[in-house]
Amino acid sequence: MTNVLETPRLILCPLQIEDAARTQEIFPHWEIVKHLNAIVPWPYPADGVLTYYRDMALPAIARRDEWYWTLRLKESPEQHKHIGAIHLRRGPNNNRGFWMGIPWQGRGLMTEAVEAVNDYWFDVLGMNVLRVPKAVDNVASRRISEKTGMRMVGTEMRDYVSGQLLSEIWEITAEEWRARRNFGAKSTK
Ligand SMILES: CC(C)(COP(=O)(O)OP(=O)(O)OC[C@H]1O[C@@H](n2cnc3c(N)ncnc32)[C@H](O)[C@@H]1OP(=O)(O)O)[C@@H](O)C(=O)NCCC(=O)NCCS
Repeated sequence: MTNVLETPRLILCPLQIEDAARTQEIFPHWEIVKHLNAIVPWPYPADGVLTYYRDMALPAIARRDEWYWTLRLKESPEQHKHIGAIHLRRGPNNNRGFWMGIPWQGRGLMTEAVEAVNDYWFDVLGMNVLRVPKAVDNVASRRISEKTGMRMVGTEMRDYVSGQLLSEIWEITAEEWRARRNFGAKSTK
């Protein structure tokens, strides 16, 4: 079972199939998908979220290969009113993904969610390192890596919804994450 997590402003709820309709309302926008993995279809189909949750995400969660949360504001936590999502994934180079609905971007909210799921990755799941690729053009996502103490360890070309783009691989080890936390670093706005 994936746990419910909390940050100062957010509740992170384990993904459920019932979340599909809300995600379908707020996720399929070019500004959100353009720097996501090319596996995301575009134009986005009307049943895109439902089939992704049902056939990919929920089975991966059941296998304990992925951990997936929808994000709700504490000030309006209604079950079907999530504002974004974040997930963790086993594997060598791509351990975390996230998106935030456009009206809620730029408030430091995803940085808060990242702090919570990084704790989960290292403290609850006991992983040793977290690595994420991101397009060089994805300034907001790269900024989150910087703000949360990650290091850029390499570059490669990757396929995104908007085409093949130069990407950076960002990394942080369990030791680095704990040292940063013990030092009292806070990255939320
Ligand atoms: C990436 C994403 C999740 C960020 O969510 P968010 O809640 O807006 O993130 P935060 O507010 O916590 O942090 C974003 C940071 O990037 C900065 N930023 C955003 N756009 C920027 C720009 N064009 N130029 C410079 N800085 C920018 C913000 O100012 C903020 O940094 P700050 O706190 O130092 O001011 C959101 O933009 C999104 O959903 N993008 C589309 C999906 C995506 O690309 N996912 C990641 C794939 S690797």
